[in-house]
Amino acid sequence: MTVPRSKADIKAKYDGMAGRYNLVETPYELLLGIKNLRRQLLQGATGKVLEIAVGTGKNLSHYSKDCEITAVDMSTGMLGVARRHAEGLGRNIAFRTMDAEALAFPDRSFDTVVSSLSLCTFPNPVAAVREMARVCRPEGRILLLEHGRSDHEWLGQWMDHRADKHARRVGCRWNRHPLDIVQQAGLTLIKAKRTFLGIMHQIEAQPS
Ligand SMILES: C[S@@+](CC[C@H](N)C(=O)[O-])C[C@H]1O[C@@H](n2cnc3c(N)ncnc32)[C@H](O)[C@@H]1O
Repeated sequence: MTVPRSKADIKAKYDGMAGRYNLVETPYELLLGIKNLRRQLLQGATGKVLEIAVGTGKNLSHYSKDCEITAVDMSTGMLGVARRHAEGLGRNIAFRTMDAEALAFPDRSFDTVVSSLSLCTFPNPVAAVREMARVCRPEGRILLLEHGRSDHEWLGQWMDHRADKHARRVGCRWNRHPLDIVQQAGLTLIKAKRTFLGIMHQIEAQPS
């Protein structure tokens, strides 16, 4: 098994694991308390919402009923699971197959742009965050729930050491630095909270 690096590799990885993604992720979700972090973050989502790299749709149950949601992902397999989940929730969501680094939406077209556990998978995460900023209204919000390299050096080094092995297994680079990515993309940071040994990041930002 090789480390997925190109978009085609990443798409194939997630298409291949779509059916078991929720099961594979369950230990991390429980260990890191991710369900609760999703709920907290998405309280800030309002109006016309774009969720990028929606995956199997784990955030969908946390949005207010008033949100009008469009959700995109590059993997048709993951989108298929998300569609079925949305039907089960009775939510009307517009799903589109799309590359996060080249969104087919006009500038300033959403009130809230959301992404979770995704900066670790994009080949060029700075380009993806720039796209999030482009499609977000200037007074809107970009809400991110991300994981990154721990700021506890012993753990950060262990994550570095295991990064390729982890990427081969689940397709994500777990030792990236989400706050640096947001900064490099030029967003204005409104709130940032780091938990679980500095691994989890809840980020609220605006386009600059
Ligand atoms: C680790 S999963 C996270 C899924 C979901 N956001 C969650 O919180 O569970 C990463 C997702 O990013 C998607 N993805 C990776 N690269 C992408 C890209 N360039 N454009 C759109 N989606 C992408 C994958 O298909 C996968 O569904």
